[in-house]
Amino acid sequence: MKALLTGGAGYIGSHTAVAMLEAGHEVAVIDNYYNSSAEAIRRVEKITGKNINMYEADVADKDKLRDILKTEMPDCIIHFAGLKAVGESVEKPVEYYRNNIDTTLALLEVMKELGLTNIVFSSSATVYGEDNVPPFTEDMPKGRCTNPYGWTKWMQEQILTDAQLASASAAAASGTDGDGAAELSVVLLRYFNPVGAHESGMIGEDPKGIPNNLMPYISQLAVGRRDHLTVFGDDYDTPDGTCRRDYIHVMDLAEGHVKAAEYCAAHKGTEVINLGTGEPYSVLDMVKAFGEACGSPVRYEIGPRRAGDVQDSWADADKAKRLLGWEASRGIREICRDAWKWQSGNPEGYGE
Ligand code: NAD
Ligand code: WQD
Repeated sequence: MKALLTGGAGYIGSHTAVAMLEAGHEVAVIDNYYNSSAEAIRRVEKITGKNINMYEADVADKDKLRDILKTEMPDCIIHFAGLKAVGESVEKPVEYYRNNIDTTLALLEVMKELGLTNIVFSSSATVYGEDNVPPFTEDMPKGRCTNPYGWTKWMQEQILTDAQLASASAAAASGTDGDGAAELSVVLLRYFNPVGAHESGMIGEDPKGIPNNLMPYISQLAVGRRDHLTVFGDDYDTPDGTCRRDYIHVMDLAEGHVKAAEYCAAHKGTEVINLGTGEPYSVLDMVKAFGEACGSPVRYEIGPRRAGDVQDSWADADKAKRLLGWEASRGIREICRDAWKWQSGNPEGYGE
């Protein structure tokens, strides 16, 4: 199939581009490089020996988007493009709502104009909110989010679900005589904590500024770009007192997207699917595993809890297995090994 990846130069998009190309699919990318660099795409091409049709554009720019989609006419769109920093979203909520909602609306409008029907969306486990108890299953009611970023995901899921429902009604009303009404296929992927890097060490996570997330922070600490790690709270009701998460290797996640895109192109309706491992690990588990991977213990101190953190978050990963025939195969050893390979080989990231 031909897949179009919005935000495909970013962390998860670039790894998914590798997995899609290696599975024999064609890939085109739209990215405005707000949080990424063209070098990531060059490296994906180097890893795979295959070409990507790259478009530098804002997905919310409908005229440009229409031109690109008309040229590509993809079998499936994977919509990664978005702003994703939780703390920044609290400071700049309007920018987050504008960018994340506008890109999704623009896509839906132009897809309808062109009769494109298949879209996979990057959602997040954050939509389970504070009140659900893990393991999170897809049929749990979505919760109250703790920040504007989370609400944009919550709302985008709703927008896509409503658009799908309307498309199904329109398709049913128009019958099967092919008069143009086309039913959408929507796959909402709820990622848990994507971490690690491609096994080659050529692509990986390259956050701009000081990382907010645990694993890129530890990686930068290990190459001397940070001084020490603060573990946010050791008084949670968990075995070692630190929060537990479902850390998923980004290449497992990428391979999950290949299956999700293939599923999306072959079905109609809306499916919500967790992409996680189902295995929780604590902050201190990750600190220890990374120290073992890089050959030197990670320096840390215990600090206060971080506002907005939930104690526990991990997936029930059964639906992905059942529906997509996909499950994660890499553990925290591989995660830390590959994160270290990427960071030690590229201490300044892509350096652009
Ligand atoms: P990322 O920032 O590395 O990638 C997002 C990409 O989208 C970047 O390349 C950025 O330049 C691009 N972009 C943003 N707005 C754009 C616009 N208007 N037009 C064109 N390009 C635009 O982030 P990521 O970690 O790869 O995340 C990808 C998606 O997955 C995001 O939607 C994110 O919210 C979601 N997600 C990420 C995580 C995570 O922990 N990384 C977890 C759950 C969900
Ligand atoms: C993991 C654990 C921290 C940094 C976030 C978003 C979520 C999703 C994934 C996009 C927590 C602890 C962290 C540090 C620490 N993103 N920590 N010291 O918060 O689970 O999820 O990224 O959708 O929406 O909220 O990930 O990596 O920030 O934190 O102790 O310097 O590490 O308290 O327990 P989180 P994280």
